[in-house]
Amino acid sequence: MSDIADQLRPITADEWPRFYRSMFTTFGDAPRGPYTETPPPVAELDRTLGLPDGDRFAVTAGIYSREMSVPGGVVPTAGITWVTVSPTHRRRGLLTAVMRRQLDEVHAAGREPVAALWAAEAGIYGRFGYAPAVERGGWRGAAERLRLRPEVDCGTGTVRLVELEEFRPAAAALHDRVRRFVPGNMARDDGWWDRQLYDDPGARDDGPARQLALHTELDGTVTGYATYRLRSGWDDHGEPDGTLTVGELRASTPAAYAALWRFLFSHDLIRTVEAPDASPDDPVRHLLADPRAWHAAPVDSLWVRLVDVGPALSARRYPAPLDMVLEVRDRFCDWNDGRWHLWGHPAGAFCDRTDRDPDLVLDVEALSAVYLGGISLAALQGAGRVTEISPGAVTQASTAFRWPVTPWCPDHF
Ligand SMILES: CC(C)(COP(=O)(O)OP(=O)(O)OC[C@H]1O[C@@H](n2cnc3c(N)ncnc32)[C@H](O)[C@@H]1OP(=O)(O)O)[C@@H](O)C(=O)NCCC(=O)NCCS
Repeated sequence: MSDIADQLRPITADEWPRFYRSMFTTFGDAPRGPYTETPPPVAELDRTLGLPDGDRFAVTAGIYSREMSVPGGVVPTAGITWVTVSPTHRRRGLLTAVMRRQLDEVHAAGREPVAALWAAEAGIYGRFGYAPAVERGGWRGAAERLRLRPEVDCGTGTVRLVELEEFRPAAAALHDRVRRFVPGNMARDDGWWDRQLYDDPGARDDGPARQLALHTELDGTVTGYATYRLRSGWDDHGEPDGTLTVGELRASTPAAYAALWRFLFSHDLIRTVEAPDASPDDPVRHLLADPRAWHAAPVDSLWVRLVDVGPALSARRYPAPLDMVLEVRDRFCDWNDGRWHLWGHPAGAFCDRTDRDPDLVLDVEALSAVYLGGISLAALQGAGRVTEISPGAVTQASTAFRWPVTPWCPDHF
């Protein structure tokens, strides 16, 4: 086994088409899109791992260098992607070998204290220390019942449908302001905006191109944007049965935010509005006259792994002061295993090795789950995954690890 794992290596640009095809085949999809022959701008081939097998790759994996918002800051993050092992090579430890190589290399480089990924299946990554830290809301409702409360202020701005050339720079500038305040949001450079706005014909389902809307104030300032898709349809009785699917909606003021939702809810011929990727805590439900009409079906989205506990815990802020010793169990990355003194505060944090007795004992999965502030440490204690040594430590740590803004990641990767 280790002989095969030793053959894992970064791929070259010439090998991209084979690598890409192998990955799609293992996921059960046909390769499509503009990057079947050449790597996309966001690819970092020196951070890929491939295992050549004739004219295929038996293993594919990659890492994106990303910047993720965390409570009170941003942190360089290894975005794990493209992980597949061919059915011909399964259950021989090759995924384990990929995880080993990636985490060793990220740790050795010392630049990214955190790794994150979207898991194809929830049973795969826990053993490697990853934990679901972010959810998406899976929102859906009957269009005729989705109306804003009568007193909602939608301001004096206007919503306009625009072309990509106008949308992209305005949306990018706004996103860069608002993403910093939402743990789990990712910075997007030009390559990531290309990818985010790529209008995949395969996802159109014979419908029109994706719609792009900007919200503009009277003085011309852009204070919001929305992307969405329309799919028309008629039921057996000839009634309109269309669906409007919200991609992403961001705004820098509550009025712009309300105006964009009002605009989306007021489309004709639509029976269903859905926002699968919106935050589970998306404020829209507080705008609705009938909030029960807007149904949530939350699903895990981003999984997080603390690669280096000390730098990771120091990189975020804590809404309540915290001064305690955590005993962290980390079987896969033993450099994290042991006791850490965490001094956390709304203004900053330090986290260092210590010999002092622990206040809490937990494994790195539990610590990774609570890192972005969206998962309750007390709930993990209830599940037997956190052990309280000093009385009151769970309540104190639970409070200090939470964050007022629920983590959210609208970027699939
Ligand atoms: C998931 C996948 C990468 C696993 O690769 P693999 O090389 O067979 O995994 P390994 O042999 O290293 O398995 C390591 C451990 O994980 C377990 N495991 C592997 N895949 C699993 C899954 N889908 N669900 C639950 N456990 C899984 C194995 O049983 C093994 O456990 P053990 O150590 O207790 O024996 C591979 O099956 C695959 O490519 N699946 C389709 C694509 C996919 O889902 N990729 C993930 C994208 S996020």
